[in-house]
Amino acid sequence: MRVIVCNDYDEMSKRAAKIVASQITLKPNCVLGLATGSTPIGLYDNLAEMNKLGEIDFSDVTTFNLDEYYPINLDNDQSYHYFMNEHLFTRVNIDINSTHLPNGQTDDPETECENYEKMINDAGGIDLQILGIGQNGHIGFNEPDNNLNTVTHLTGLTQSTIEANSRFFEKKEDVPTRALTMGIASILKSRKIVLLASGRTKYKVVSELLNEGINTSVPATMLKVHPDVVLICDKEAYASMYLGVDIGGTSIKFGVVDGFNNIVYKDSLPTQKDKPARAIIDNIAKACKDITSRFPVTAVGVGTPGIIDFAKKTVTAANLPFDNTPIFDWLKESINLPVYINNDANCAALGEAVAGEGAGEKDMLMITLGTGIGGGIIIDKKIYMGAKGDAGEIGHMCIETNGKPCSCGNRGCWEKYASVSALIEQTEEAVLKNPNSILANVIAKNHVVDGKTVFEAKQKGCTVADAVFEQYIEYLAVGIRNIINIFRPGAVVIAGGISEAGQALLDPLVKKVDSSVPIKISRLQNDAGIIGAALLGEKNR
Ligand code: F6R
Repeated sequence: MRVIVCNDYDEMSKRAAKIVASQITLKPNCVLGLATGSTPIGLYDNLAEMNKLGEIDFSDVTTFNLDEYYPINLDNDQSYHYFMNEHLFTRVNIDINSTHLPNGQTDDPETECENYEKMINDAGGIDLQILGIGQNGHIGFNEPDNNLNTVTHLTGLTQSTIEANSRFFEKKEDVPTRALTMGIASILKSRKIVLLASGRTKYKVVSELLNEGINTSVPATMLKVHPDVVLICDKEAYASMYLGVDIGGTSIKFGVVDGFNNIVYKDSLPTQKDKPARAIIDNIAKACKDITSRFPVTAVGVGTPGIIDFAKKTVTAANLPFDNTPIFDWLKESINLPVYINNDANCAALGEAVAGEGAGEKDMLMITLGTGIGGGIIIDKKIYMGAKGDAGEIGHMCIETNGKPCSCGNRGCWEKYASVSALIEQTEEAVLKNPNSILANVIAKNHVVDGKTVFEAKQKGCTVADAVFEQYIEYLAVGIRNIINIFRPGAVVIAGGISEAGQALLDPLVKKVDSSVPIKISRLQNDAGIIGAALLGEKNR
């Protein structure tokens, strides 16, 4: 089955209309199989327009509709006869005698079905069949059933179809409980099949259709035996949902992310890092199981701090009890879905690159300023992992030979000068030298030195704070210039708590870096990690 995913309903309708138009152009006396319901209305609108513009000619076309309620009067405005006249037949130059629907007011449904099947065969069979899909996987009115090897027949509608179709009727009791429908065998005899699906209500069944084998509980899966079927659907019907998990030192955040990269559900748990690794991971797995039972999630992505050994599938993180911890295997023991893991800074970069400030760029670099400096390199909208999966440690590039010693064992690492911890250190040093400064007053008032202290003192006109900030920006700019020279990304995005300073940080930084590469503040902030982790599941990035 070929799959065409369109952005929206309009695009789906146009794509389908082009296929029908080509069929009519190639074979003007073709036989079309048609469907009713809300899905093909846009297709019929397009066909009517094309016919009006003289682009297609229906005068030699024959049509057979899939189904009709039973019993129903043909002039009932809920009958499929009425629907087809309204949406297509009266709007194009088709000969109404060449249009066929099962007769819903017959006294003898059995003979009607036999005749209908015979008429299709006598017309030479259907060249192109248009199908919609029910939320329960039905095509035509072929409901989930053990026997689907059927031709046109009288059938009962399931409760879920009655429910779904009640939107067209005044009340649910008015929905007929039976219908005459082409069978699966009749449909499969068509030479070509176009299956349409639109909207979030079809998402679940479309993913079942694509991911499951042929089975009678999802009748549309029977189409998989046909050699020429194309599914045309919009993003809402197709795009999967993914669960993103962002493990942090204090909390673990969970988010269900839809195909438009929106977080549709959010939750969090305390990390409880004093507990053993196994207990932390079991908590995560339990929450994942609960969330995936409530949302149509198809994969789980996890962003974790620390170093991931992708060969051994283990994680070692300094601020968590993870020491060669087999997070991946432990999660897989209880989550019955594909699970993907990556470093949290990489996840945040991916999230920002796809759904945040980097959305318009192919390549992007994310710099997270915190205790250290985290980096995520995105090339071609994918995380650049390096040969061993640990690329992106930009905080440890050397900007000062014989500079300050770093926990990594080297000296002069960028994060010793440009992280938030470094800014705090620089602030404290300046206050020691200038105990009567405004900066000192601010600290005395707040009883704390943090990343915001310098900004506050600067605002109050402190020249000592100005100097600290000037020096800090110089350090930050040096590293960013180096990175830009190596990667020339489409954008550099700054994240981390200090980025809340916004323009007060950005304007002097942009000036100092003096590059044509745009430098931006993260738009997604804390959500970037969740969205990026969820995106690990999409196309297994
Ligand atoms: C209608 C038909 C049904 C619908 C299906 C989807 O002729 O055969 O299988 O295609 O119920 O209906 P909508 O498009 O209303 O969601």
